[in-house]
Amino acid sequence: MCGIVGCILNDKKAAPVLLECVKRLEYRGYDSVGIATPYNEIELKKDKGKIDDVDQKLNLGDIPGNMGIAHVRWATHGIPTRENSHPHNDCKNRISVVHNGIIENYKELKDELIREGHLFKSETDTEVIPHLIERYMDEGHDLEESVRKATNDLQGSFALAVFSLDEPGKIIGILKDSPLIAGKNESEYFLASDVPAILKQTNNIIYLKDGEMVILDEKEGVVVKDVEGNVVEKEVHIIDWTPEMAEKGGYDHFMLKEIHEQPKAVRDTLMGAEEIKKVVKEIKSIKRICFVACGTSYHASLIGKYLFESLMDIPIDVVLASEFEYSANTLNQETLVILITQSGETADTLKSLRIANKKSKTLAIVNVLGSRATREADHVIYTHAGPEIGVAATKTYVSQLACIYLLAIYMSKKEELLERLNQIPEEMEKILKKEDQIISIAHKYKDVQDFFFIGRGFSYPTAMEGALKLKEITYIHAEGYAAGELKHGPLALIDDEVPVVAVVPPGKSHDKTLSNVEEVRARGAHVIGVGSKKDDVLRSETVDLIGLDDEIDEMFSAIPYIVPLQLLSYHISVAKGIDPDKPKNLAKCVTVE
Ligand code: F6R
Repeated sequence: MCGIVGCILNDKKAAPVLLECVKRLEYRGYDSVGIATPYNEIELKKDKGKIDDVDQKLNLGDIPGNMGIAHVRWATHGIPTRENSHPHNDCKNRISVVHNGIIENYKELKDELIREGHLFKSETDTEVIPHLIERYMDEGHDLEESVRKATNDLQGSFALAVFSLDEPGKIIGILKDSPLIAGKNESEYFLASDVPAILKQTNNIIYLKDGEMVILDEKEGVVVKDVEGNVVEKEVHIIDWTPEMAEKGGYDHFMLKEIHEQPKAVRDTLMGAEEIKKVVKEIKSIKRICFVACGTSYHASLIGKYLFESLMDIPIDVVLASEFEYSANTLNQETLVILITQSGETADTLKSLRIANKKSKTLAIVNVLGSRATREADHVIYTHAGPEIGVAATKTYVSQLACIYLLAIYMSKKEELLERLNQIPEEMEKILKKEDQIISIAHKYKDVQDFFFIGRGFSYPTAMEGALKLKEITYIHAEGYAAGELKHGPLALIDDEVPVVAVVPPGKSHDKTLSNVEEVRARGAHVIGVGSKKDDVLRSETVDLIGLDDEIDEMFSAIPYIVPLQLLSYHISVAKGIDPDKPKNLAKCVTVE
């Protein structure tokens, strides 16, 4: 994962700006942070820890120089330490590098470089890069050529930013299978892992392709070159997200803000109906759909399966992206592979997309404009959730669901369901008003060790997503289970110390799920019921009921019913003193397989 930034500013100090940008990338990793600028020598401040803590200790903005590079790390090779933090320099301290990605052949390269006499200071895969560049510069190549040669030696994925004291006024970026964008104002130039990182500085964005090299040059501005080194003319996109859209707006955490933004995110996504109709016209003669995704996006795909199979006579598969390469043999041109990914940069999903592109038609449902999935899929539908900063996906999930509902409605030609779909944002607004009740439930259960989440049909993926949210941001063990499966094993775990969250909307599965609620209550479990406020079983004394409107029937429950589960996890997280925006070991965008 990791986040990288580089900038050349006109006549102001670069370090405070780099610090500001890198803070907006903290969702990509927060094991360590570092900034380097070329001055008389390479000025470098870095250490392990969250950005604010390291900044307090080292005063990261206090580095001279009008240009530089910065990094936040999500550790892959080498534990979080100062030595393993980026930027990394060469032996002579004349070249500095920040890197996002994984260098798979770093061990061979490191051994080779050590034999040549290079001295390494860290355990990272990244450190081979400045030494390789040093090797080629020592052979007489300029920085650009040396970076090109060094990256030709690398196997794996990378987005890099590099400068050398020997070529002042220049920062070079290059990418393969890791995201990198560039941005520019009249006389200020940037590169970064994503758009929100530099949105406050500029909204003129250039998207880069694999193999392309971007050169930020004090005199020549932003120049992009292809693999052969030819200059390529790139379109400059004007991004209409405001920096405020990527900031907290008065909420304690991004996650809470993003939960509250969900009715708007769904409304905005539903407004993209025309875009979806157009795609539906283009994807005729489809006899099978295969959804591919990871994590929360996988849960959205599972809802897709229940929905499409309710509305259309067409087989639907759902495959975890990390498993897709082992099961993709039956794809053909009559199969539509739908890849769901909010970031559009998830390595497992991108790999699946490349496999699927060879054999079938592909459609990517993505939130991040210009991300890799949008450039590689045959068709693209955007969710209109705006930037999501909290690591745990919330508003992008409900927007993915809104897209899936529109797609299923148009593909099945059941437009009469649109009216029902359009009521959902209002229902979500009503549920958000129940936050105080959910806070008291969160306080009651914050110290338990294990949770079960159960549901049937459409509510089964909702239960899985509820359990995932709880695990991610509270570190409580939770399992999302098909309610009918409990008696085939996990019921043995249920007692008065294991609360069960039951997702019970009115509809086909309702009565059977209520029977399962009775089963767990009979074994002493405390139940948190999410369902109709008119249900007698859920209104009993041993159930904490989050009572929702009767009108939210099973088929349309997936979007509104996830809201109380997100709020429950969020408030348990806060009550436990955890920062829900930055759960340990996780990063927003998983660019490694
Ligand atoms: C959970 C979460 C992750 C992502 C997963 C896929 O809250 O955010 O499980 O859903 O890493 O990410 P995308 O959708 O960007 O492919």
